Amino acid sequence: MRTAILTDPLDFDGWRTAARAFRLAGVEPAQARFVVGSGQAALFENGGPSFEKDGAFTAPRAFLETAKDLIQHRSEDRFDLMYRLLWRLRDQPDLMAVLSDPDVAEAADRMKAVRRAAHKMKAFVRFRQTEDSQGEHWVAWFEPAHRVLRTTAPFFARRFSTMRWTILTPDGTATWDGGLMRFGPAADRSQAPAEDEMEAFWRTYYASTFNPARLKLKAMRSEMPKRYWKNLPEAALIPELTAAAAVRTDAMVSQPAPQPNARFQRARAPLVDRAATDDLVPETLADLARGVQGCRRCPLWRDATQGVCGAGGQAAELMVVGEQPGDREDLAGQPFVGPAGQLLDQAMVEAGLDRDALYLTNAVKHFKHEPRGKRRLHKTPNAGEVQACRWWLDHERRLVKPRLILALGATAGLAVLGRKVAVQTERGAVMTQADGTRVLLTVHPSYLLRLPDAEARTRERALFVRDLRAAIHAV
Ligand code: URA
Repeated sequence: MRTAILTDPLDFDGWRTAARAFRLAGVEPAQARFVVGSGQAALFENGGPSFEKDGAFTAPRAFLETAKDLIQHRSEDRFDLMYRLLWRLRDQPDLMAVLSDPDVAEAADRMKAVRRAAHKMKAFVRFRQTEDSQGEHWVAWFEPAHRVLRTTAPFFARRFSTMRWTILTPDGTATWDGGLMRFGPAADRSQAPAEDEMEAFWRTYYASTFNPARLKLKAMRSEMPKRYWKNLPEAALIPELTAAAAVRTDAMVSQPAPQPNARFQRARAPLVDRAATDDLVPETLADLARGVQGCRRCPLWRDATQGVCGAGGQAAELMVVGEQPGDREDLAGQPFVGPAGQLLDQAMVEAGLDRDALYLTNAVKHFKHEPRGKRRLHKTPNAGEVQACRWWLDHERRLVKPRLILALGATAGLAVLGRKVAVQTERGAVMTQADGTRVLLTVHPSYLLRLPDAEARTRERALFVRDLRAAIHAV
């Protein structure tokens, strides 16, 4: 028996070096053993195998791809299976294509399990907000079915590129500081922070996307396997919601027409599907907010964290419409909480406008962006996306019935007035639409943030505050 000692359960390079040496030396699979050591340097027990000459060989790409997935499987004998395949490839170079072969089939099954674990990790990691000396730090505890942390962490770096976060798992930790990924030793659950308000968000989100008429416990358990429940804040709702499902389903069936909340939510929706919302009429802002979370009226939902609805009361007399949520709003689920929102807040205070008294929303409810390095760069929504999302804005207008709408910038102007606007020439004056709605147009606060020189910024800011005051007088 020949033994190779690997440095850790994911030591692919160590395995490859050892497997290559074994194969060149003619060590049969039954005689090869791979164990994970505890930090020693030597790869081979009792010295390495000796070979006559370095008779090079190349493993097919299909095998290497499979082996990289397989090594993440938790089974003890995964290294043996990998070596058996490598050994057999010598006489059967096309082995990996023989799907009926028991070794190949076994490898395919385990590979599928690993990919599924990675998929579940992407879906079920839940960050909690913490604070350290450098500011906000998001931390998640997760127990993956297989050792997929290293291969899945880059997904989170792309997805939450501007945040500082750490994922703790029993296999190791991944930390992203906004530019660099570091992997550390295994963690335990006690290192994860306790509950915060994000938990409440996940519970609300899950309750709103739960459709009792579609409840299929078996399918649900397979989509959200029980092993993940203990770390999912929203899973606490499952017994309650499933118990209530029959009652809710009966109630839904007996209703004369489909209700918005039930129809808005679809388990597997296509990229764009307007028909599903076309005939629905949200009765409250809460209905509408739930509907936005399931919206497929344009493809922007796909790359956003969540839909961001308006904030404020239904009785507000002034509705302020921005363009679309930015990076911060997309993560927080609230409009105008990032830099443009801070500028807007300050200008509103200066103008004497109370943010709590108005209804603040956006023309487009999902964050449109493109990745640029570690950042998610804002992209202006196009006319088609604005038009698709007007469906929600029009319902907000119907429900809130504001005395005045203040449109911030060209996108808001397009959405509210239904035509292209020239912001600088049309700003500051109340325009009355055919249906009687009064609209006042001004610049978007990001325009002020982008101005390069201080003098222009001061001047434009004063004009912006002037327009906000005009809105107060017009209400
Ligand atoms: N810009 C907007 O138009 N809306 C927001 O919510 C944030 C930034």
